[in-house]
Amino acid sequence: MTLKAPTHHISAQPGEIAKTVLMPGDPLRAKFIAENFLEDAVQVNSIRCMYAYTGTYKGKKVSVMASGIGAPTMGVHAWELYNLYDVENIIRVGTTGAIHDELKIGDLVFALGACYNTPYADQYKLSGTFSAVASYPLLRDAVDKADQMKAKYMVGNVYSTDIFYPEYDREENERWSKMGVLSVEMETAALYIVAARAGKKALSILTVSDHVMTGEKVSADIREKNFTDMMKIALEIAE
Ligand code: HPA
Repeated sequence: MTLKAPTHHISAQPGEIAKTVLMPGDPLRAKFIAENFLEDAVQVNSIRCMYAYTGTYKGKKVSVMASGIGAPTMGVHAWELYNLYDVENIIRVGTTGAIHDELKIGDLVFALGACYNTPYADQYKLSGTFSAVASYPLLRDAVDKADQMKAKYMVGNVYSTDIFYPEYDREENERWSKMGVLSVEMETAALYIVAARAGKKALSILTVSDHVMTGEKVSADIREKNFTDMMKIALEIAE
């Protein structure tokens, strides 16, 4: 079977998606980004409401597409973008629940690595555990930008879980926290794993939306301001 674009899940024609794709989890956030940050944005996918748009930012062609929630849907879309649309860079722009004491609501997290409970990497039949890590050039550029913007951020491990509502083990985040893991979310490991196999680049930039240990949640105005910082960093480092 020869796979080529348009695909099962993306109706864009070859060439309609830029080399760099920003990926929020939420389709409506993809629409918001296209409408508020890109010029001349054109919608290039709506299959399953996984909206994708291509436009320009400061003259650079950039796409934005939703990933949906969790490893399988991030995996499907990232795989098709890298392998069937010649995408080189995917930058996840998402939210995350803090588990590290020093993180505050609205802070940014750059995911240097992602611990995970997803079986996503099992398909490669490796004789050990794959370490899901960010692409260093994207990470370095993003951290440089964050410093220039005086954004408040931490760089480190996140935990990508397949289970948002664990039935029994409510203390698991505490144990991850003891290992220095900064925050929890659901997509970064799958993105980094798919990028590694495709030989492409990936980075997750996350905004802390809630504190898992304290139950604190983001207010609408902080969400907006810090979301803007995250978006600007992602767009500035887009190649
Ligand atoms: N768990 C998983 N994913 C998340 C969370 C969380 O608490 N907050 C934001 N994304």
